[in-house]
Amino acid sequence: MRVVERIDQVRAFVRSVGRSTVGLVATLGGLHAGHRSLVEHAMAAGDTVVATLFLNPTQFSDAADIASYPRTRDSDLALFRDAGASLVFAPQVRTMYPPGCDTTVAPGRVAERLEGLARPGHFRGVCTVVTKLLNIVTPARAYFGQKDAQQVAVIRRMVADLDVDVDLVVCPTVRDRDGVALSSRNALLTADQRARAVAIPRALAACRARFRSGERDAETLRTVLRDRLAGAVDVEYVSVADPETMTELDTVARPGVASVAARVGSVRLIDNVPLEPAN
Ligand code: PAJ
Repeated sequence: MRVVERIDQVRAFVRSVGRSTVGLVATLGGLHAGHRSLVEHAMAAGDTVVATLFLNPTQFSDAADIASYPRTRDSDLALFRDAGASLVFAPQVRTMYPPGCDTTVAPGRVAERLEGLARPGHFRGVCTVVTKLLNIVTPARAYFGQKDAQQVAVIRRMVADLDVDVDLVVCPTVRDRDGVALSSRNALLTADQRARAVAIPRALAACRARFRSGERDAETLRTVLRDRLAGAVDVEYVSVADPETMTELDTVARPGVASVAARVGSVRLIDNVPLEPAN
């Protein structure tokens, strides 16, 4: 596995292997088994994996959030190597945003709700950096986690609207044994907070169970979420939405997505489950 920090090195690598074989796994670092699963899905598809490690400042609206973000470069590189990545692009901020850079990619309405309301400018930063990474790596496929359902919706819309030549592959959320979705921010939880965070996957599981037993009224499903979270975590939002537009549903007639954002102490956690009939 090679680790590079210049754009021309990435382009030369991709030219040498051929872009049709390349799968992109983009990350902020602080890697865990959720990120690893993206590399594993790409490997299973036979891709040459180009992974990126870049703590993108433009998607953080809160200085304390980026300041406390885990910086674990050595173990991140070890995880990528172990999972089978061929190239890691780990640029400096000045490489991605040199002096004078002045253009951003602004997402539309799908980015205005939920995470977009809670984190102003977040998805503009995500769209800008993902566009740059797609233009640098030019992968045939790019792998993203269902964990960030709205990010998937925003990137899907962007790729369609801007005619980006890439197939998006969405990989299921990887969870700990207690059900809590793996997240770099989990490292910031105390033992007590961690125990309370379990309410989030439990609430989502209860919501999905109600859906699968036939409940289609979205407000009833949102109430299941609120009731199960009350007392354990500070709820920021509960949502039962269309997975493409992220607009709240009245009735879950087609597949939907149930999402939660909540604070446990000062740590903000998000999680979701797709609402699809059981197989
Ligand atoms: P980051 O939070 O590092 O996540 C990188 C990728 O890993 C995303 O596609 C995310 O959805 C996925 N992921 C995170 N936790 C997961 C889990 N428990 N199970 C499955 N997949 C998981 O998302 C970002 O970085 C950034 O916004 C990025 C796309 C890299 C742009 O900067």
